[in-house]
Amino acid sequence: MGKRSSTAPSTGRYVNIGNGPLFQTIDIGHAEYMAVVEPETAFWSLVRKGSLADALSAGSELLNEYNKKAASFTQEMDLLRDGLKPSAVYFNPTEMCNLDCPYCYIPQDMRRDGKHMSEEDLIRALGLYKEYFDKTLPEGVQPQIIFHGAEPLLNRDAVFAGIEKFASDFRFGVQSNGTLLDGSAIDFLTGRNVSIGISIDASSEIIAKKTRRNWDGQGVQKKVVEAMERLRGYEGWSVICTVTSENMAHLSELVEFLHCNEVPTSLLNIVRCTLPSSLEVKPDDAQASKHFIKALDMSYDLFVATGRKLPIANFANILLSILAPTARRLMCDISPCGGGRCFFAMAPNGDLFPCSEFIGLKEFKGGNLFKGGVEGAMASSQFGRVTGRRVEDITPCRTCAIRHYCGAPCPAEACERNGSMESVGAFCEFYEEQVRYAFRLIADNKQEAFLWDGWDSETKSTFYMNCF
Ligand SMILES: C[S@@+](CC[C@H](N)C(=O)[O-])C[C@H]1O[C@@H](n2cnc3c(N)ncnc32)[C@H](O)[C@@H]1O
Ligand code: SF4
Ligand code: SF4
Repeated sequence: MGKRSSTAPSTGRYVNIGNGPLFQTIDIGHAEYMAVVEPETAFWSLVRKGSLADALSAGSELLNEYNKKAASFTQEMDLLRDGLKPSAVYFNPTEMCNLDCPYCYIPQDMRRDGKHMSEEDLIRALGLYKEYFDKTLPEGVQPQIIFHGAEPLLNRDAVFAGIEKFASDFRFGVQSNGTLLDGSAIDFLTGRNVSIGISIDASSEIIAKKTRRNWDGQGVQKKVVEAMERLRGYEGWSVICTVTSENMAHLSELVEFLHCNEVPTSLLNIVRCTLPSSLEVKPDDAQASKHFIKALDMSYDLFVATGRKLPIANFANILLSILAPTARRLMCDISPCGGGRCFFAMAPNGDLFPCSEFIGLKEFKGGNLFKGGVEGAMASSQFGRVTGRRVEDITPCRTCAIRHYCGAPCPAEACERNGSMESVGAFCEFYEEQVRYAFRLIADNKQEAFLWDGWDSETKSTFYMNCF
């Protein structure tokens, strides 16, 4: 296994030989610049195409700069890859959902016939998490509990009782399909500063209905848009769009719609095909990349026209993986990914999984909160399989120049669809194109338009955003 050593990286007089760094060049699709990357440390520089030979020669400014920074970059990567502790729980208070989205990674029978967690167990669980995090996190760092699911608001009374009782112990979030976010729910949650995520896949009702619909096949757009209208003006809300073959051609319209509705943060997540049913709506990698980049262009145009940003957090995270790796907020594009080490997920019966994505896969159950606790799960072989999946063990990722900007996601998908933890995941091109786009933005000094204000004052952040 390729676990990194934290010894100082090789420095030397010549690039690519002896003790010199292994530099790789990337065509970023820019008229003037190429990117030069030392992948192990994630060190990078933009070099004018006509100056590449000079930059790679002995004594160059680039080489000197690398030799100066390599040790601190290595330390940062070691911290990100091996030094973080869990600080967030995706807490499923119910197995049930009132919708039947075709790509959902929660198995259909569970969503249809599943059970709620009782209020008593929910309160007991939060008490156990408080005890655990009091022991493991430094003073002043508040852990996050994100009520997730299935649809957490189907078990609203228990969820709200937990939020009320532990208001000062956790930063709470609720990820909802938006159909049950009525005025009183929004008043309760916003009044307690709870982060609210809602899901919407398109601005048009017809497109949205293809992937977000109830058990009778009816769309739910009207209700979700009503919830969005109620949330306007609140800082702590965000929208997740799941990118599929059904909506990818309409992402730019969605970005316009979200911007117009003053959504503070969005995620345009590519669909994960961990469960076979999601293959129905799996987009073509190249097509999805093209449409996603068009949507990024749209967000830039809207920023120029209005002065207001719509950060697309999954892309912002890739930009940050280049500009300031420790400021990342999502942990899907680092290897090992954040599953089972920065966060984990809990089913309503207390079963613990490395990430929500594994919740339908019994063989990844690492323990149970009520029997063995978080410590037991963290030490389990099931969590170890995920935390031990390293990009160095995956072909072709082990030699890819952008391996620490992409992270070769996702272990659940790699394992279920491609046969093993050492398999590549999916959507390689989607990550390639985002990294190339990010470097182009940096070359043109446009990156600020894609990052939330204040990103550079939070480089020690332990706050992880909702990934799914
Ligand atoms: C599983 S749902 C749970 C919370 C709530 N029911 C909702 O829809 O927001 C959380 C998010 O995961 C997304 N999701 C579900 N299955 C997915 C998949 N296979 N790939 C990517 N995202 C997925 C949903 O679209 C939603 O935004
Ligand atoms: S994505 Fe959310 S709303 Fe859709 S079926 Fe899954 S849990 Fe329900
Ligand atoms: S998935 Fe593709 S882009 Fe990502 S590390 Fe692997 S080879 Fe590189």
